[in-house]
This record gives sequence, C-alpha cells and structure tokens, in this order.
Amino acid sequence: MHKDIKRVIISYEQIEQRSKELAKEVEAYYEDKDAPLLVALLKGSIPFLAELIKHIELDIEYDFMDVSSYEGTESIGDVRILKDLDQSIKGLNILLVEDIVDTGRTVQEVTKTLFNKGANEVKIVSLLDKPSRRLVDVKADFVGFEIPNEFVVGFGLDFNEKYRQLGYVGILKDELYE
Ligand code: IMP
Repeated sequence: MHKDIKRVIISYEQIEQRSKELAKEVEAYYEDKDAPLLVALLKGSIPFLAELIKHIELDIEYDFMDVSSYEGTESIGDVRILKDLDQSIKGLNILLVEDIVDTGRTVQEVTKTLFNKGANEVKIVSLLDKPSRRLVDVKADFVGFEIPNEFVVGFGLDFNEKYRQLGYVGILKDELYE
C-alpha cells in the first residue's frame, strides 16, 4: 500500500468484480438499442474506463472530453471544454463515464452539452457516487459503489494530481490535507 494512504476502502478485486457486473447491466440496457459511444471525462475516468470496457461485449467505441468549471460561477455550474470530442455525436446513444458523481454539476453540465451536440440519449456510468453531497438533481444510471462523504483518491481520483495511478480507492492520512 502507498505510504500516504491511511485506509483502503475499495480494493482492486472489488472494483474488478463490480465492473464485470456493471458491464452486464450496460449490455442488458443496450440489448435492443444502438450500442453506445462511451464518452470518458479526463483524467479521472481512465482507469475505470479501461476496466469496464474489458467486460462489455457490445460493439462500443469511446472518445474523451476534458472539462473544467468556470471560475467564479460555481453556483451556475457551467463547464468550459478543455478538450472536445473528436467526432460528431448527432443521433448517437452516449454513455458518459465518470470516476465520481459528487455535487453532480459536472455530469449535469456535460449531459446538457452532449444533448446540445445532438446526442439521442445520455446515460451515466460512474465508479463512485457520493449521494450525500448532491447539489443538483442528477442520478447516475449505473453506479459502482456508493460512498460516504469522505475525500478519496486512487483508481483515477487525485489529490493535487497525485495518487491517480493507485489500483484501489483509499483515504489519505490526515497530515496530507494539512
Ligand atoms: P461534481 O461536479 O461535484 O460531481 O464533481 C465531480 C468531480 O469532482 C470528479 O470528477 C472529481 O474530479 C472531483 N471529486 C469529487 N469528489 C472527489 C474525491 O473524493 N476525490 C477526488 N476527486 C473528487
């Protein structure tokens, strides 16, 4: 275990097992629909995307977007697109891939953006969900794990850009936040 981690809350084995289950849920949902384009939000969703797609037996494609909140307009929740999709998504079913849904603003705003770009449908799959922190009315359609209101790192999630590479989700030692 990394020296800065106080406690592992979700192990790699749990993530792998849950990703397999989520992949089957996704397959069942799209059974009678056009297979989705997965849109993964950089950078946090990369490890989860990589784990999830291994187990999805549909002819999916994936693309990436990078967004950041507009500074000073947090209450509005607009997002600025730092890296846009490579392709047109007109008429496509989109499965948005996130590391965590926290306040919900990011997925809410990105969903709006994807509909503005002509998406037929937008569903959300997230490795983690912190429902107690929600500030807007959004719900992930497929959730790996619900977690309490604690700051977590690993499996894509960072603290000042660090710890994304950890193969598990954990809590940092208290002194790291000081
Ligand atoms: P939201 O727009 O508040 O739902 O924020 C989602 C984003 O906040 C995620 O994609 C993460 O980048 C970040 N975030 C929220 N909670 C955590 C956490 O516990 N650890 C690391 N990043 C987090």
